[in-house]
Amino acid sequence: MRIIQCDSKEEAVSTVASMLLEKIESKPNSVIGLATGRTMEPVYAQLVKSGPDKFKKTFFFMLDEYVGLPLNHPSSFKHYIKSHLINPLGLLESQFSFPPAHLSEGASHYETSIKESGGIDFQLLGIGKNGHIGFNEPGSEKNSRTRIVKLTNETIEANRDQFVDKNIPTDALSMGIGTILEGKSLVLLATGKSKADAIKYLMNHHDDPSCPVTFLKNHPHFTLVLDPEAASKINLNI
Ligand code: F6R
Repeated sequence: MRIIQCDSKEEAVSTVASMLLEKIESKPNSVIGLATGRTMEPVYAQLVKSGPDKFKKTFFFMLDEYVGLPLNHPSSFKHYIKSHLINPLGLLESQFSFPPAHLSEGASHYETSIKESGGIDFQLLGIGKNGHIGFNEPGSEKNSRTRIVKLTNETIEANRDQFVDKNIPTDALSMGIGTILEGKSLVLLATGKSKADAIKYLMNHHDDPSCPVTFLKNHPHFTLVLDPEAASKINLNI
């Protein structure tokens, strides 16, 4: 695990955006896995500033999607990425694959699509307060694949304000941990003090199902990018 501890949230965001852009510059037809959530909003804002040309040959897989929302619901992750990245950059929706949360065979379709793409070159990840990645909540297994997962009450509460009608789904279709671990490089951005406990736990544990992010620790190309608040409970100098 490589750790990049930044002096500000802005620097952490820029670091991650630059890593993603460097990947696309070195391999324009990269397959990129994207996360949603508040942490990623400034990253996408920065990618939008870099203009659309670099992304013309890139293909994207989204990490997860709520189950039970009408297509294009304003709080769906598909809507999120359309408004933060696809529309501002003028990308084609056909450059994106979305977890087909409305299909009963959606999980296996998604796994097949990822394999057929040649696999994910660069996976962008956020982290939940409880250490979830994607929507792999505590209790998820290291070899889990894309599947329907139950959201914990903590995650539901953390995301409630993203729902205009406050009626948040209880299930999601998420890439599994095994699926994520097959990504060639994984970059996790954590910002804000609400993530500090999970980051501290990550430092001291590995392969611990009670905190799924610990499964990433031994991936050969896993980079953790932290702002000062997310890093506030760890000490890298000892
Ligand atoms: C969503 C996802 C989640 C979020 C996590 C943090 O696609 O992958 O793991 O990254 O819930 O969300 P924020 O950034 O809103 O704190």
